[in-house]
Amino acid sequence: MHPMLNIAVRAARAAGNIIAKNLGETHSFDVSEKRKDDLVTSIDKECEKTIVSVLHKAYPDHNIMGEEGGLVHKNENSEFTWIIDPIDGTTNFVKGIPHVAVSIGLMQNNKNMVGVVFNPMTNEMFIASRGDGASLNGRRIRVSDLTSTDGAIIATAPPVRYRERMNAYMGIFHKVVDNCADIRRSGSAALDLCYVAAGRYDAYFEQGLKVWDFCAGELIVREAGGIVTDFVGSPEKNGNIVAGNPKIVQSLIKIFDPNTLDASLR
Ligand code: IPD
Ligand code: CA
Ligand code: CA
Repeated sequence: MHPMLNIAVRAARAAGNIIAKNLGETHSFDVSEKRKDDLVTSIDKECEKTIVSVLHKAYPDHNIMGEEGGLVHKNENSEFTWIIDPIDGTTNFVKGIPHVAVSIGLMQNNKNMVGVVFNPMTNEMFIASRGDGASLNGRRIRVSDLTSTDGAIIATAPPVRYRERMNAYMGIFHKVVDNCADIRRSGSAALDLCYVAAGRYDAYFEQGLKVWDFCAGELIVREAGGIVTDFVGSPEKNGNIVAGNPKIVQSLIKIFDPNTLDASLR
């Protein structure tokens, strides 16, 4: 295993232990709202500190950025930046829903090199390093081979943190529902991407994600033979993401219809 991947796996397991002990145990942690309907807990912060300390010990020269702490270690002379989402799925975590993940990605300049997404509740470790493929608990994974949305299971999420975009989103949601077998909304973007990588979901789309939500999962999808684009089929922009095998992504973009797509979804 790539040495940097190895360290990321170690950090993810350390945080995963903390998550598994505390999931749903609301008396054992503090919860606050960063913005309306956007929760953070003392466990998010504890996990991030744990991950940062494992990474920093192994790579003291690297930049390290976390969702909760920002750029906690900064070195302009290093081309490496770790990007951490200590708990992806905090609302699930607070509610005791065992669908949460630690997400750790490593960028070298603008390229993602390593991605680890770990669900400590199912003990599922999704990993990838650039050029080496993607795996789940040591087994190779691949995106589904469905060539259109017909019969597809598609994950998505409404823009609850950008309510002004809801009408535009509902427009495309309706068209997608009309053209696929069914929809899933899991509460963890990182796991949504990994489920696409493993062929469990045929495709996934969501808007307004942050880099820590998708940096690791994006590499895992690509290394599993998938692609990740924005809503018009160009490289990801503003955290707007469509993921799946190239054909199903193309068929989703056609359903979204770039000519009529609302500006908020571009
Ligand atoms: C959220 C989850 C959720 C997605 C949101 C994310 P958080 O991350 O990934 O599935 O719909 O856009 O912000 O806040 O639980 O780390
Ligand atoms: Ca997240
Ligand atoms: Ca988070």
